[in-house]
This record gives sequence, C-alpha cells and structure tokens, in this order.
Amino acid sequence: MSAEDRMISADAQNEEEAVIEKSLRPRWLKQYIGQDKIKRELSIYIEAAKKREEALDHVLLYGPPGLGKTTMAMVVANEMAVNIRTTSGPAIEKSGDLVALLNELEPGDVLFIDEIHRMPRLVEEVLYSAMEDYYIDIIVGEGANAHPVHFPLPPFTLVGATTRAGMLSAPLRDRFGIVAHMEYYSVDELKEIVLRSADVLQTPIHEEGALEVARRSRGTPRIANRLLKRVRDFAEVEGSGVVTSEAASEALELLRVDAEGLDSLDHRMLLTMIEMYNGGPVGLSTLAANIGEETETIAYMVEPYLLQAGFIQRTPRGRVVTHYGYEHLGFPIPTDGDK
Ligand SMILES: Nc1ncnc2c1ncn2[C@@H]1O[C@H](COP(=O)(O)OP(=O)(O)O)[C@@H](O)[C@H]1O
Ligand SMILES: [Mg+2]
Repeated sequence: MSAEDRMISADAQNEEEAVIEKSLRPRWLKQYIGQDKIKRELSIYIEAAKKREEALDHVLLYGPPGLGKTTMAMVVANEMAVNIRTTSGPAIEKSGDLVALLNELEPGDVLFIDEIHRMPRLVEEVLYSAMEDYYIDIIVGEGANAHPVHFPLPPFTLVGATTRAGMLSAPLRDRFGIVAHMEYYSVDELKEIVLRSADVLQTPIHEEGALEVARRSRGTPRIANRLLKRVRDFAEVEGSGVVTSEAASEALELLRVDAEGLDSLDHRMLLTMIEMYNGGPVGLSTLAANIGEETETIAYMVEPYLLQAGFIQRTPRGRVVTHYGYEHLGFPIPTDGDK
C-alpha cells in the first residue's frame, strides 16, 4: 500500500469521492456539525455584516485536510447569500490570473483560495491592497510601453484555506480579520455526521454502526464518509444491507482499519519505534527512512493523528511512544527503568 491510497488518508482521493463529497456537504451553519466555537463566531460576524450590508471580513481557515474547510467556505457564502468563486494557490500563477478572478466578483462575493500557502509570492503581494482597500495596482505592457494601471474592486470576502498556517507569510495572515483553527472532531460529532450522511445516501444504519465508523475515522469527517461508503457496500453484499455494528467492524477489519482508526502504516511506524528504538526518542526523518516513506508523508499524514490521539508524544529529542501506544499495539508497558 502506498501512502497516497491509504484508506484513512484525509486527502480527497478521486473524482468519485469528489461527487459524493459534494452531495454530503452541509449547506448551512445549522447543518454543519461540530466546530462550535468557529460557528458561533462566524454567525455573529455574518449577521453583523448582513445588517450593515457590508462584505464579511476576510476569513482564514486552517487545519488538517478533511475537516471541512472547503465546506465552511461554501456555507459562509450561502449564509451571506452571495456567490462564491473557487480557486487554489498553485492555480494562480501570475498577478494577471488574480486580477481576472477579482474582476469577476460582484459586491459582497466570496473568493475562496484553497491551499493559499502555495500562492506565488508576487501574486500574494498584489492581494494585500485588494484585501485591505479593495484595489490593485499592476503594471501593464512591457519595456517602454509599461504603465501602471489602477483597478478599483468591489468589496469582497477572501476566504483562504490552508493545512499549514505556519507557511503563510505574516503580512498575509495579518490581513485576515477572522482566523479560525479547525479542530479534529469528537467521536460523538463524527457519529452525528455519519448518521446524517447515511440519511443523505439513504443507507439504513444503526446508532452502534455509526458509532463504530465514527470511532475509526481519526477525528476527520472526510474519512468518516469514506468509511461509511465502504461499510455500506459491505453490508449490501455480505449482510442485510443495514449498517449494524457487526457489519461495520467486519468491513473495517477487511480494510485493515483497527478499532482506533489506525491502519498498517500507523502500525508500522509505532512498531518501528518500539522494536528498533525502544519506544524512542527518535527523529522523524530517521523513522521515515526506516519505514520507507517520505518524511513529509510521516509529518503530515501519519504523525498528526497519532499525536492528537495520544499514541506518541513530541519531546525535544524526538518522538516517543506513550504507554497508551504500547498498550494499543499489545506490548507490555515499559517500566521507567527501561526508558
Ligand atoms: N462539520 C461537518 N459536518 C458534516 N460534514 C462535514 C463537516 N465537515 C466536513 N464534512 C464532510 O467532509 C467532507 C470533507 O470536507 P471538506 O470541506 O472538503 O474538507 P477540507 O476542505 O478541510 O479538506 C465533505 O464532503 C463534507 O461532507
Ligand atoms: Mg478542501
């Protein structure tokens, strides 16, 4: 299995998934499950902006993949009753591309830039005045014909999404009035999401079946929806068509997703740490080399959930496996003398 097609990778994987995602996206704040703090803040700012008939302040959404950033951008536009234009950092190559996008906006519209940390620096600089004072100055033409052009813009809302807030330059980050950090979801919230998705997909499901899927979804709605789909297939072919807790466990075992949502790559990482490094501390790149994966993969696709769920810990000298990690893999917990 390569890291890219991990069942529990939180990244969107293919076109089929994109279609399903679209149908499962909540459209309003009140359908959006979890992220209560962000929802509360946004609902206040949205109401205030609507009352004043102004564009909503710029919003930066950051957090791991699959937690609902794109969904939230669409919900914001919907709640503001404006259009949304969607692009991504790497797709905007020149300032001209940005000008073309901004030029099509109507007053109050949302421009959604996904992966905003991957925007070229020159483009980013054009964005500063656009965000702050709704204009852009660019140079048109070349050589002796080059001349500055001043473009006024309608008031608009930039919604930026990024998985790596640390990679955003300070001047860009400072221009967002609303900065929202998306958190991993609780099992209860994921269960609600699974029940809602099953309803949309018209899949009969038991509460315990939904709970089983939720528990193995690594705090991530995208993974919950993907697992639900696979469990549904399993229940239809092998069972009564109802997603029961047994059907869910069996299907997820077949997919090699364990009771805590860890897969074989997670297991490999924990096993390597325990068996080769006595539980750590060990550095990420050393580990990556031992497992035969890129350091990036380990850093962004494997480690964050293992940290968040308490299987490993960060120390100044590297990562260590926690007692919980030992226990989960069925190893005796080392006594302090061993470590
Ligand atoms: N709060 C939520 N409630 C219900 N479904 C959600 C929620 N957040 C995300 N989802 C589902 O998870 C999928 C992935 O969300 P998405 O917004 O694409 O994540 P991101 O942009 O952060 O990678 C979407 O299809 C959506 O249906
Ligand atoms: Mg997205």
